[in-house]
Amino acid sequence: MGENCSLLKAENLTMVYNSPQGPLEALRGLSLQVQEGEFVGIVGPSGCGKSTLLRLLSGLLKPTSGRVLWRGKLLDGPREEMGFVFQKANLMPWRNVLANVTLPLEIRGFNGDEAREKAIELLKLLGLDGFLHIYPRELSGGMEQRVALARALIYDPEILFLDEPFSSLDALTRERLNVELARIWHIKCKTVVMVTHSIQEALFLADKVLVMSPRPGTIKASFDVPFPRPRDISIIYSPQFASLAKAIRGVIS
Ligand SMILES: Nc1ncnc2c1ncn2[C@@H]1O[C@H](COP(=O)(O)OP(=O)(O)OP(=O)(O)O)[C@@H](O)[C@H]1O
Ligand SMILES: [Mg+2]
Repeated sequence: MGENCSLLKAENLTMVYNSPQGPLEALRGLSLQVQEGEFVGIVGPSGCGKSTLLRLLSGLLKPTSGRVLWRGKLLDGPREEMGFVFQKANLMPWRNVLANVTLPLEIRGFNGDEAREKAIELLKLLGLDGFLHIYPRELSGGMEQRVALARALIYDPEILFLDEPFSSLDALTRERLNVELARIWHIKCKTVVMVTHSIQEALFLADKVLVMSPRPGTIKASFDVPFPRPRDISIIYSPQFASLAKAIRGVIS
């Protein structure tokens, strides 16, 4: 795919926050490209500006300088084609699972039956069909994140931004959700940009892993991930996986 057809392109992004202690430069001169259908993983040290980058890429925040292009046009705010899952699921406690997932469609004025049908289908795909009428307080952390994923997928976004969505989960649940996410990405063929602390998670899921420098964050290195798809979780124990993980670890400060 040529340079001009990138779905999402960041050019020379600099972000300076005005904090009470004075200006704080979170990102400096960061550029990247995301192609349609690509799964991009972003790793970097804590505080290097990963969440800031996701907010800029999704139009939730405006850069101090530089620009973000969506399909070649300047992005000036969040778009309907974009979906988000953050570290915390932020479900509505007074709505059950089904009603949490249909919410984005209700906001968009969809008919209730149609919304429910779509939600049930997605919740099935995520293994939650037995929990439609349960309230968030009765869900485990892994289930909450799956509901958040369903809520983000329900309006068929073209791109999904994931900010450490599984970081609060135990290793096994996280591994299961990684497998689930890979499967859904495969079925739905979405473009995904995922921030994670875990090199292993990035390598298992992504086509390309970008490594950020410490703050002010910029892209320090890019690794293509060669493992064929669909990927079995057992690849994480292969020598090739280990050596790529080691190479990425070596670049992170
Ligand atoms: N709204 C804000 N106002 C002022 N400073 C901010 C704001 N948001 C983030 N920062 C600062 O910008 C820097 C980057 O923050 P950011 O949350 O993007 O990092 P991160 O890489 O996502 O960190 P973590 O890995 O801990 O999630 C940090 O020093 C943070 O304190
Ligand atoms: Mg963050």
